[in-house]
Amino acid sequence: MTEILRTRAALRARVTGWKRAGEVVGVVPTMGALHAGHLSLVTAAKAGCDRVIVTIFVNPKQFNSASDLEKYPRTEEADAEKVAPYGVDVIYAPGPEEIYPEGFATSVSVSGLTEGLCGAFRPGHFDGVTTVVPKLFLQTGADKAYFGEKDYQQLQVVTRMAADLDIPVEIVPCATVREADGLALSSRNVMLPADTRRGAAELYAVLSEVAAALSGGAVLDELSGAAEARLIAAGFEKVEYLDLRAVGTLAPMQRADGPARLLVAAWLGGVRLIDNVAVG
Ligand code: PAF
Repeated sequence: MTEILRTRAALRARVTGWKRAGEVVGVVPTMGALHAGHLSLVTAAKAGCDRVIVTIFVNPKQFNSASDLEKYPRTEEADAEKVAPYGVDVIYAPGPEEIYPEGFATSVSVSGLTEGLCGAFRPGHFDGVTTVVPKLFLQTGADKAYFGEKDYQQLQVVTRMAADLDIPVEIVPCATVREADGLALSSRNVMLPADTRRGAAELYAVLSEVAAALSGGAVLDELSGAAEARLIAAGFEKVEYLDLRAVGTLAPMQRADGPARLLVAAWLGGVRLIDNVAVG
C-alpha cells in the first residue's frame, strides 16, 4: 500500500532527499474520491517524473456551501488502494492544521479569468483554489503538477497564478476521461441519484452537438435555447451556463472564429456537473 504522510515536516524530509538526488518530482493535487480521471493524471505524472506525490485534501476554502462541503465524498482508504498499483511514491493527506494553521490570514486571488463561468456562480471558490494550490506546490516542492481539462477554468486560473507568483512548477494539462456514454468522470458523479444517471450523459451529447454546429459557423445565441431545453427535458433542474470562450483568455465569444472552448455547468439530481469541449 502507498505510504500516507500527514505532515509538512515528514513530506519535506522525503522530498529533500529526492531533490538532492536530482529527481524530478510530480504532484497530482486532488480532494480524494479518486476515479479513473485522477488515475490518468497519475499515469501522466509517472511518465513525466521520477517521483510522484498524490495530495488528498478536501479544501474547505473552495466550497461556497457548508452542505456541499459536508456531502463531499471522503474515501481515503479506497483512494490509497486505487493508487497502489500505479507506483505512487507518497500520498500526502494533511490535516487542516498543516494547510491552515492557527492565525492563517492569507488569500490568493486571480482576477479576470475567475470572473465568469463557475466564478460567477460559486463566489469565493477560485480564491479557495488559488490559496490552497500554491501551498500544495510549495509544500511538495513539485517540478510538475497535473490537472485535468474537465475543470478547464481551474486549469487556466492555476496556470496564471503559478506564472504570476513565479512558482517554479510546470502545469501539465491532461485530457478529460469519460464514461462509455460520454459523462465526464467526476468525484461528484457518485452523488447522482440512480434514476438521473442516464440523463447525465446528455450533457456531453449536447456539448458535442453544439460544438459541431459552432465549428460549422453557427452563432451560440441561436443554439443555446434549444440546447438548454434538451437538458431540462433530460431531467436537469437548471443550466447555469453554456458559454463559448476563447482559449487562453476565456473571453466570451459568439462564433468560433479562433481557438475556443464550449463550457457548461448544470444541476442534475441536486448535483452540479461541469464539462467542456474544444471547438474548431
Ligand atoms: O480539482 C480539485 O480537485 C481541487 O480544486 C484541487 C486542485 C485539488 C484544489 O483543492
